[in-house]
Amino acid sequence: MEISKFGKCLALVASFFVSSLVFAVNLQTNEYLKEYNEYLGENTFTKNIVEYNLTAATSLLAVAGKKSVSTWSYNLQIPGPILRVKQGDNVKINFTNTLPVKTTIHWHGMRVPNAMDGVPIVTQKPVMPGASFTYEFGLVDAGTYWFHPHVRSHEQVEKGLYGVFIVESNEDPEYDDEIVLVLDDWLLNDEGQIEDSFDINGGDLNAEGRLGNVITVNGKPLPTFDVKAGARIRLRVINASNARNYRFKIPSAEAVIFAVDGNLSGRTLALNEINIAPGNRVDIDIKIPHSKEGNSIEGTIFDIKNTFFHREARGNILKGPQVLAKLRIKGSVDIVKDFPVPLADNVPKWSGALKTPINETFSFDTKLDFGAFFSGGPLVSFVINGKKYGEHIPTKMALNQFQHYRITNGTGLYHPIHFHGMFFKVLSRDGKKVDEPFFRDTALLDYDGSLEIGVIAKDPGSWMMHCHLLEHSALGMMTLIEVK
Ligand code: C2O
Ligand code: CU
Repeated sequence: MEISKFGKCLALVASFFVSSLVFAVNLQTNEYLKEYNEYLGENTFTKNIVEYNLTAATSLLAVAGKKSVSTWSYNLQIPGPILRVKQGDNVKINFTNTLPVKTTIHWHGMRVPNAMDGVPIVTQKPVMPGASFTYEFGLVDAGTYWFHPHVRSHEQVEKGLYGVFIVESNEDPEYDDEIVLVLDDWLLNDEGQIEDSFDINGGDLNAEGRLGNVITVNGKPLPTFDVKAGARIRLRVINASNARNYRFKIPSAEAVIFAVDGNLSGRTLALNEINIAPGNRVDIDIKIPHSKEGNSIEGTIFDIKNTFFHREARGNILKGPQVLAKLRIKGSVDIVKDFPVPLADNVPKWSGALKTPINETFSFDTKLDFGAFFSGGPLVSFVINGKKYGEHIPTKMALNQFQHYRITNGTGLYHPIHFHGMFFKVLSRDGKKVDEPFFRDTALLDYDGSLEIGVIAKDPGSWMMHCHLLEHSALGMMTLIEVK
């Protein structure tokens, strides 16, 4: 055989191999889509429309252990109101901005039409001082969600603009009680006011972001919740902090996590299995004992502890574990409920997903920015693939197609990675395969670590992907994903 013919033949064989490989991958990822569709189920909507009014305003409130803190809030409360709607119903939220600054509302983790996602310029015009905007959408997924502004979030969320969105499902079991815990930390100055260091380099805009000196649950340091002996309780936990991570421990209580970021897990998870990074939510099932060796446990206290250690911070509550809240036994239930912990039985495994080709790599990094520095800005910018927000060409992502993304961390810092408009599944962490039996919208990227994720977009539009450490996103660590 002549050499050129041999070459052609080889090329033919090679291209046959490549195309059959592509074919095999496609077969597999089509299977992933099928599994995912079955897991999500059909979107069906009722005709019910639940209406809420939300007003963002400047306020003086008793929060963080102080009598009167100058804050920004929704409906003059921190956290803002709990919006509670049934899966399949629709909401109409009449939002009015009475703040001196522009804002928007983003429905964190919720799959809403792109135009309702609350990202300024990208999905809507910012809501100017004195102006209003109506958010309307159907509730596709049940679970624990939250909402917050997407304009200067590092300042607006910190000043108190956040609220909880609960979407109930008909399959939710009847707990004796439900307790919502919104975690936040506040950086207060000597006057007991929120430290105004939002745009200061080496202030908030230091590497670790704003870590506060007062941790609060529902706006209060160390609150106590009364619970009945023998009660079955659902905790809905939301981390609304700018930069602080948490991990729970509730000594001597029978407690497991059964949902992450609103999504039911395929198996129960130990409390210490899940880091609750900024933006994350977990749902916890607790069985409060009825008695102890036949004796009443009236008055007994269960501590909810935080065991996540941050390496460094300007705040002064660095030594853990810290107690975040207490559960105190008061009274007892008549009947101890014994239903199984709610779990999802059809979470796609996507077990071969790590072997599929990587469609995109996002490297989270810092970069010296002398241009910005000499015009009075920050010296360090926080970038994704070398560019800060506004400099990227949006990443293209095909609708209904499995994507394998790799996310790397070139910094010695934490980055909670958040995708708008879609859920993803963590496939590997720091190079090691993991079996996370659930989908999420935010995952903590460990310092110098990496993540591989699998994701299928179900809704077209321009969706944000960013670091949810809000000072990092303020410094540029955001980008857009264009789903078509
Ligand atoms: Cu909590 Cu871009 O969002
Ligand atoms: Cu970050």
